[in-house]
Amino acid sequence: MLFQLEIPIPENQQIHLPILTTKGVELFIKREDTIHPFVSGNKFRKLKYNIAEAKRQGKETLLTFGGAFSNHIAATAAAGKMAGFKTIGIIRGDELGKDVTKTLLQNETLRNASENGMQFKFITREAYRNKTSEEFINQLKKEFGDFYLVPEGGTNALAVKGCEEVLTNEDEKFNYICCAVGTGGTISGLINSAENHQKVIGFPALKGDFLVEEIKPYVKGSENWSLQTNYHFGGYGKYSEELIRFINEFKEQTGVLLDPVYTGKMLFGILDLVSKDMFSKNSKILAIHTGGLQGIAGVNKKLKNKNKELIKV
Ligand SMILES: Cc1ncc(COP(=O)(O)O)c(C=O)c1O
Repeated sequence: MLFQLEIPIPENQQIHLPILTTKGVELFIKREDTIHPFVSGNKFRKLKYNIAEAKRQGKETLLTFGGAFSNHIAATAAAGKMAGFKTIGIIRGDELGKDVTKTLLQNETLRNASENGMQFKFITREAYRNKTSEEFINQLKKEFGDFYLVPEGGTNALAVKGCEEVLTNEDEKFNYICCAVGTGGTISGLINSAENHQKVIGFPALKGDFLVEEIKPYVKGSENWSLQTNYHFGGYGKYSEELIRFINEFKEQTGVLLDPVYTGKMLFGILDLVSKDMFSKNSKILAIHTGGLQGIAGVNKKLKNKNKELIKV
């Protein structure tokens, strides 16, 4: 009943680590990852008002885009099913469409989405780059009929509105709100709902400075935010042995599982900045766990093939 009822308020879990005690900094994690295994964290927030709008418009189908391991694809399939929509996923990589049975056997994200009823169209990387062109969308309408289009990564004004509901009155005690950044929708909602005394810090999971310009239109001139751009680990979907080791140690020490694409990079960044005294003594930091744990299986498969340390789930 995720899309008709209010969800329980996710807990803020205090993190106890020697570096935090040494520096006199408090760190809590908002466990949005506990909302749902696939529609977790920011996915629930971003889809909530989009699904309501699709219903209002009388649409029967949701269509969206994503890569083969996309959290957003997994979430849209699961949420669409719960809310009674047909779902279509336009997936980057036409090679995946050559033998769909094999693809689904090998790829847990797509398999789960398929089990939740999502129909796929696999397209070339070149076609994927032009996916928002009017011509391509019209072609999709001819192929699939009428649909409600959810953008890649799920970010639009309604998604930002949903993400404005992450912070609650209880969170006023924090000085810093941290989150991972992909397309910028989640941080925009946090910026809009943060209190004047709070600073919002984003940790982009990908390379490039373009995100500032992507975020600005959603945040009405707010200046209470910044991006820490040194923690992308080589770019989107890239990771190092150091990051995987960090994720495993963090789980062992705190019990909190992080994903290697978004939240692992954010927590690595936060603790690195704590160690470099970026946060003054007595700072209270709230890090948002935006979910994404479904993607670990795909990364572990790649790590296993390379005989590397796996993420312990
Ligand atoms: C787990 C997770 N965290 C963070 C993000 C980044 O969110 P946004 O794209 O709104 O910046 C995403 C991508 O949607 C994600 O899947």
